Amino acid sequence: MQIRENISLQPYNSFGIYAMAKYLATFKTVAELEEILGNPKFKIQNPKFILGGGSNILLTQDFDGLVLKNEIGGIEVVNEDAEHIYVKAGAGENWHNLVMYCVENGFAGMENLSLIPGNVGASPMQNIGAYGVEVKDIFHEAEAYHLKDKHTRKFTVNDCEFGYRESVFKHKYKGEFVIISVTYRLHKKHVFNTSYGAIQQELEKMGVTELSIKAISRAVINIRSSKLPDPRVIGNAGSFFKNPQVDKKLFEQLQSQHPNIPHFPFDSMHVKVPAGWLIEQCGWKGYRKGDAGCYSKQALVLVNYGNASGSEIYNLSEEILQSVKNKFGIELEREVNII
Ligand code: FAD
Ligand code: EPU
Repeated sequence: MQIRENISLQPYNSFGIYAMAKYLATFKTVAELEEILGNPKFKIQNPKFILGGGSNILLTQDFDGLVLKNEIGGIEVVNEDAEHIYVKAGAGENWHNLVMYCVENGFAGMENLSLIPGNVGASPMQNIGAYGVEVKDIFHEAEAYHLKDKHTRKFTVNDCEFGYRESVFKHKYKGEFVIISVTYRLHKKHVFNTSYGAIQQELEKMGVTELSIKAISRAVINIRSSKLPDPRVIGNAGSFFKNPQVDKKLFEQLQSQHPNIPHFPFDSMHVKVPAGWLIEQCGWKGYRKGDAGCYSKQALVLVNYGNASGSEIYNLSEEILQSVKNKFGIELEREVNII
């Protein structure tokens, strides 16, 4: 356990935004978390913010409270049945390391989620997703500690109310629970999911003749590396906005004006339209104002080229949001957590 006062959060967020925290406390066990919370200094210290890898946050101001950085580690197989392997991971484990562990051991289900930055604890909170798979597809249960009531509760898949980048932890119970561990249900028999995006094309390019979860993981890593900026080089938090679910009537109007508009089925009333396309059509792709910008290879990713402030990135996102609304009548929703 470590508690530091008046500390810069710049090394702790993938946007590389400079902002100060009044306190930053790290913990490796629930007992350490309880010790921090029991400290008289923090009993009155509000608000509290739970930090993982900092890869989906935008800091727009200093944080005058207690940042709780979850560093609970450990990966273990806790159960198995005829078809499944149950892998439990501490919330502070790096997500991609967990994916690599599962891929190496032949546990299938996570390979399409390779190379997503951040930690295990945020994976159900965000219901992370990529290349046709979401965490909800492999989620078994999570243990979470209630900050006020000081008890640990188990969450099943139904309790989590997962949606597209949504869960109870993001809204209903926002800031209430610290996720401690997550258990994933993986498959012994490998079922491959290669239908999404450019996976098939990439596998062909790689010369893969026999499909495997290792090959899919590698293909996903290659695709992601070719179009997403590496936060160690250019600050970013991945997709800044969600892909909007557009009412079918509005979509048909848009399609008559823009016959090439890309779209994906969503439900009987809605169509999913890539926000990256909408943003590119408004002329933002590659735009830069000071050190805040819209990435040249993926318009959905806002970037910090060096010394942009959180407000500059936020203001740029607001300009983008307004221009998409004016041109297409579609209101984008931010995916990144604004602090
Ligand atoms: P943080 O940024 O630290 O926190 C995010 C939110 O979760 C905060 O509200 C925080 O309070 C909360 N939180 C974190 N840990 C806990 C915990 N233990 N208990 C309770 N609440 C917690 N996401 C995708 O879904 N798909 C992608 O393909 C994808 N690609 C990305 C590519 C890049 C280059 C980057 C930078 C990001 C990408 N992301 C993607 C976003 C990001 O990786 C995920 O949202 C990730 O799950 C965030 O994890 P984190 O540990 O960094 O969370
Ligand atoms: N597009 C453009 N211009 C752009 C970017 C995209 O026209 O600059 C259009 C293209 O038609 C392209 C389509 O958008 O085919 C989809 O683009 P891409 O495959 O890059 O995926 P995305 O919809 O932009 C989503 C997720 C990503 C995830 C990928 C792959 C959201 C908000 N984003 O991006 O998740 O990795 O699919 O599954 O759903 C994240 O959440 O941070 C993230 C990176």
